[in-house]
Amino acid sequence: MRKRYAVPLGVVGTGIAGVGYASVIERNWFRLRRYDVPVLAPGRRPIKILHISDTHLTPGRRRMIKWVSALDALEPDLVVNTGDSISHRDAIGPFLDLLGPLLDRPGVFVYGSNDMYSPVPKNPARYLWRTSRTDYNRRTVPDLPYRELGAAMTAAGWLDLNNATGTLKAGDTEIWFGGINDSHIGKDRYDEIAGPAQGPLSIGVMHSPEPRNLDRFAGDGYQLLLAGHTHGGQLCVPMFGALVTNCGIDRARVKGLNRHGPAWLHVSAGLGTSPWAPVRFCCPPEASLLTLVPSA
Ligand SMILES: [Fe+2]
Repeated sequence: MRKRYAVPLGVVGTGIAGVGYASVIERNWFRLRRYDVPVLAPGRRPIKILHISDTHLTPGRRRMIKWVSALDALEPDLVVNTGDSISHRDAIGPFLDLLGPLLDRPGVFVYGSNDMYSPVPKNPARYLWRTSRTDYNRRTVPDLPYRELGAAMTAAGWLDLNNATGTLKAGDTEIWFGGINDSHIGKDRYDEIAGPAQGPLSIGVMHSPEPRNLDRFAGDGYQLLLAGHTHGGQLCVPMFGALVTNCGIDRARVKGLNRHGPAWLHVSAGLGTSPWAPVRFCCPPEASLLTLVPSA
């Protein structure tokens, strides 16, 4: 091979191998992350919360369906779904299969934009220079069956927290929840749930961890805030991390357990991707088991 072709062909070959790894291997390399969160009063029994997010489910993703439903073996006291559950009009049945026995446990949910609007083809790298928020500017009528999705979860006893509050018993503790619909598309209405959080334990639930909403949850006394949306950056750089967060939160808190003022904040990197950007790099798909424990 002539020298002048060797370098370009090497670059192309490395690129193809990288895309293959990101789309076939890492995108299906599901991980469970575990965190202890010290928010309970002394002497209380620990509470296990399984946090799932951003499954973006399409029919046929059997590996994800099988992996998530098997998480029931963790025996969580509560399941929290922070949205972007489906990316196809025929995905409700598969999504219920994905929850499987988890649906019989106490659960809460909010919607993400992708539960309402079907994915459209786009340059998967475009979100590196701007958020996906503008993708929805001309889409005012939802074309995915998000109401049926929500009805299926509420029929199982799960709390619909889209601009709503409510209580649910998990383990031996009555938990106060406040939740908002997706701020990424302007459907959040915090004013409708504003007010002091109540009870011995309070959890704020949202799809996108937008700081203005995090501030309000924390100001109202919510102790634990749960969100998704960021995909952890989805395409990350080794030793650097996420390039973007796709919302207002800083890169350092694009995923994982952190503080937001007096509250704890957990952002899930999520389990899926848009069908039109089916790649993850240095950011494997994940679910999280948060064990709430007494504070010292
Ligand atoms: Fe998402």
